[in-house]
Formats: sequence, structure tokens, C-alpha cells
Amino acid sequence: MTDVPESILIDDIATLVTNDPGLGEGRVGTVEDAALVIEGGAVAWAGPRAHAPAADARVDAAGRCVIPGFVDSHSHIVFAGDRSREFAARMSGRPYSAGGIRTTVAATRAASDAELLAGARGFVAEARAQGTTTLEVKSGYGLTVADEERALAVAGRVTDEVTFLGAHVVAPEYADDPQGYVDLVTGPMLDACAPRARWIDVFCERGAFDEEASRRVLTAGMARGLLPRVHGNQLGEGPGVRLAVEVGAASVDHCTYLSAADVDALAQAAKRTEPTVATLLPGVDFSTRQSYPDARALIDAGAIVALASDCNPGSCFTSSLAFCIAVAVRDMGMTPDEAVWAATAGGALALRRTDVGRLSPGAHADLVLLNAPNHLYLAYRPGVPQVAAVWKDGVLAHGRP
Ligand code: NIG
Ligand code: FE
Repeated sequence: MTDVPESILIDDIATLVTNDPGLGEGRVGTVEDAALVIEGGAVAWAGPRAHAPAADARVDAAGRCVIPGFVDSHSHIVFAGDRSREFAARMSGRPYSAGGIRTTVAATRAASDAELLAGARGFVAEARAQGTTTLEVKSGYGLTVADEERALAVAGRVTDEVTFLGAHVVAPEYADDPQGYVDLVTGPMLDACAPRARWIDVFCERGAFDEEASRRVLTAGMARGLLPRVHGNQLGEGPGVRLAVEVGAASVDHCTYLSAADVDALAQAAKRTEPTVATLLPGVDFSTRQSYPDARALIDAGAIVALASDCNPGSCFTSSLAFCIAVAVRDMGMTPDEAVWAATAGGALALRRTDVGRLSPGAHADLVLLNAPNHLYLAYRPGVPQVAAVWKDGVLAHGRP
């Protein structure tokens, strides 16, 4: 005997966002007056309520909206310390620079394993309460072999999407020998870290790693079976996008400053079987007072756009995808449908996942019940908590229906 019902019918859904064009209407595959059945942790059925099959238990959505859980494909939540004063100084005109990362490196190295794990768990719970059901987590605030390895060990306790970012910035010990640091990252550090990660990432930017060093990092990681992703074009135009497309990265993240050639490269890369997604991080541009990336130009050109939080203590300390959606709609030229798709199905593509980011049969039953009749409310009511309940793998993980 078990208390968990074998199947659950979520009934009386005013708007169900499936992200499956075969199931519903428009960009996000909406079904009005819908229902959804969960069985064995997966979506067993989704469609018009009138055709819903019977189930062991019933949850009443009471005329509200259900969306796929957010897939946040970019975060740095294994860290210690605080940079609120750096943020305040920025708001008074000081520019953001990659070097601020070293402040967090010092605090993170000084923290215990238990402190780092407690922090990461706290951020995962915080994100979950806001509707995020898949979260990528990077290392990158250790920058020694032992500290990067333990950051990945912590990340692996809270997610399956673990990224080795030893090449976040040159470690302070190697300030006079950046080449030596790249040797370390692509040698002993990679040896220790590759078994603990799925992804290899590099911060390809002025003040961090140039094109040649970034290519070395990515190709060394790929030779060890890691899949590439790139931080690029955050602080200015540069080689990040070009390099990401060249190595077949799953995603290039930030894309705030793009040349026409970059937009074209991303549009071409979108046609591949394994595309390179342009992941935009509106919270970063908000919190560093930069202009926003031109999502409209990317989408109109044919690029695939995802939205992610980049939750980290320096450039952007939000875990809210709803906030990112609101900014993307208000200031980046995205329609509400495009923004919701980008934070769910787009994030899934940026992680090369087909089992999340959609609510059609076979997908993980990762879903969010909103206190709203439809998904437009995510941008329509900025800053207002609207998550009523979150299910992860079919199990209620936050809130109450
Ligand atoms: O994605 N750009 C590089 N890394 C982070 C910032 C990290 C920090 O400032 O601590 C980012 O924005
Ligand atoms: Fe980042």
C-alpha cells in the first residue's frame, strides 16, 4: 500500500501551456479549458478537459493556468560572500568588470563544504518556489583544483546539470601567468573535474579569457566527453558567439552585444540538428545597467532564443525567471508567448533536453500552477508572486493547489 496515487488528474485548467504545437495553439501550444494526467512521474495525457481520462486522484486547478516548470539553463549558486555594495556602487555609475568575480572566489574558498551545500540548497528551493524545476549549476568560484572539484561535488548534490567553469577568470595566483592558468584548467583541474560534470564552459570576454585560450579550454573539455557552452558577448562585441558556433556549443549565453555576423551565425546554427541556442540573461543587463540584447533581431533572423537567470552574487542576484520574462517582454522586443517559451522549451534546448520544458505525454511531470488565468500574467503582473504550486516529477514540491 502507498499513499501516493498512481495517477493524478489536474482538472479545470483555464489555459494549459504545453509547448507542443501538435497539442495546442500558437507558439506555446496552449489548450483552453484543459486537463492533464500525471502518472509515474511523467505526463500521461494532456488536452481538452472534456476528453480527459479517469485518474486515481483529482486536483482542481479552478480556472487557473498551468505551464511547464521553468528550465533555468544558467546559474552560479555555489558560492559564499556578499557583493551588495558592489551592486550599489554600480547603480551610482561604476561599471561592471569581470574582476569582481575574485571577491567571491576569496569568500568561497574560505567557506566550509557544509556552508556551500546549504547555500546551494537554499537557492534551489528559492528557485523552485518561483517555478523553476530544472536548474543548471556552474563551478567557477574556486579556481584551484580542490576548490573547483568541491564546487562540482556540491552542484552534483542539487542538480544533474553540472557545468565545469574553471575558466571563469584567471585565478589570483596566476595573475602574472594567465597561460599557466589555462594549462592548469585544461590539465590537472580538468582531470579532477571532468568526471563530475556534464558541461564545459568558459568566460570568453575582455578581462577573462581571449579567443585562443577559450578555444583551448573548450576543446580540452570536449576531448574528455564534456559538452561545450560559452559565456560570450556580455561586455562588448567579441569572439564568443563565433567560437560557440564553431565548436557546436549547445548555447552561448549573454549575447548582449552582437554584430550582424553574430546574429547571422546564430540563425545558421539554429538550423542544425544540434543547434547553438542564444541564451539571453536580462537580469544581468538589468543589474549591471547595460543595454538589453536585441531578442527581436535574433528571433526575426531565425535564431533560437532562451532566457535564463544567471543567478550569481556579482552580475545578477535573481533566481526569478518570471522577472526575466517581464523584462524580456517590456524591453527586449519579445512577445509574452516567445518569452514563456524561451524560459521553458528554450532552456531545455540550451541543455539539449527533450524530456523537460514541455507538457506532452512522456515528458517529466514538472509543472507550475499559476494564480492567474493565463501565462500572459507573468509579464502583465511584474514582481507579483503568482506561483500557487509546483510539481517536480509528478510530486508536489512547493505550495498548495
Ligand atoms: O555570467 N560573466 C561571467 N560570470 C558571471 C558573473 C559572475 C560574477 O560577477 O561573479 C555572469 O555574469
Ligand atoms: Fe554566468
